[in-house]
Amino acid sequence: MKKVVLVTGANSGIGLALCKRLLSVDDQIHLCLACRNMQRAETARAALLCSHPGADIALLKVDVGSLKSVLEAAKELKQSKRYRRLDYLYLNAGIMPNPRIDFNAFINGLFSRKAIHMFATGEGLLTQEDQVTEDGLQNVFATNVFGHFILLRELEPFLCQSEKESLVIWSSSSNARRSAFSLTDYQHTQGKESYSSSKYATDLLSVALNNHYNKQGLYSSVVCPGLVMTHLTYGILPPFFWTLILPIMLLIRMFTNSFTLSPYNGAEALVWLFKQKPESLDPLAKYYSCTSGLGSNYVKPVKMDLDEEAAEAFYQKLLDLETKYRCWQN
Ligand SMILES: NC(=O)c1ccc[n+]([C@@H]2O[C@H](COP(=O)([O-])OP(=O)(O)OC[C@H]3O[C@@H](n4cnc5c(N)ncnc54)[C@H](OP(=O)(O)O)[C@@H]3O)[C@@H](O)[C@H]2O)c1
Repeated sequence: MKKVVLVTGANSGIGLALCKRLLSVDDQIHLCLACRNMQRAETARAALLCSHPGADIALLKVDVGSLKSVLEAAKELKQSKRYRRLDYLYLNAGIMPNPRIDFNAFINGLFSRKAIHMFATGEGLLTQEDQVTEDGLQNVFATNVFGHFILLRELEPFLCQSEKESLVIWSSSSNARRSAFSLTDYQHTQGKESYSSSKYATDLLSVALNNHYNKQGLYSSVVCPGLVMTHLTYGILPPFFWTLILPIMLLIRMFTNSFTLSPYNGAEALVWLFKQKPESLDPLAKYYSCTSGLGSNYVKPVKMDLDEEAAEAFYQKLLDLETKYRCWQN
């Protein structure tokens, strides 16, 4: 049976590279590009059809930062009857708004023993300015976590089917840090590391989803694409600066294989998961895309720094928030 794959944030960066690579692995898939901007989605579809003429590529309009948009998208998918089920749901769309580099930390870190770790994870380097959405949620949390969670909940009938397993894949980050996340402020209204907090939240959520949904045939996994040159990283530093330091990054890649740099390389773990049996995956591992100093790609599973009680507590908080929003709608 042909596999059905839905990818959020499919029109650029890692999402677009993933779609292209998936079509190279299996050009018979039904691919659905879930994007907020239909013009950019059309351009992405045209580019994919250039390399894979005849591929089955549909578009779905969804702004994952808006609950109204997420519910409308799910409704459209159900009403269109285009698909009977979903085999893979890539929750890849993500934002890091108004990033700022702490240059003091950068200079201090550069000459410390933690230099490579700092470059690989962005730890201590990056802060963001978050905003509040029309739903009254923190934008980074709404986009990177909650909108995707509601999309998944709405698509349960497509994902939880007895005859075959489905896999949900979250684009997390090595920047996901326990210290940036708090259960009492899980939207990160107080701090300046909303991106790191949101990615840690996806890690927790994935663990809880496995505990709650595996029996219904739904599995969840988390990936880190490594450091990749995309619109997201061009928001941190301008493209010319990244080009300027490219030789240094290629040198650092000899020591930390997390500098994948190109969207193609960054999609490695996402493509690898497509080829695995969902039930064979480790629910407590994050799968990293890696590129060696000589440029070959591979995938490395790394145990996540979390505990299952915290995952469950966070999951319950999301269910409470979901209930609250559904009550408002009715
Ligand atoms: N690049 C890295 O080094 C890196 C490292 C670790 C993790 N990641 C993660 O990888 C994922 C992909 O990022 P990327 O690097 O490929 O960045 P990107 O090129 O900026 O792509 C992000 C995608 O998400 C979409 N998106 C953003 N907000 C959205 C919303 N509210 N609704 C629907 N779509 C939305 C964007 O659509 P528009 O074109 O309309 O903006 C775009 O298609 C993200 O989750 C990111 O956090 C990236």
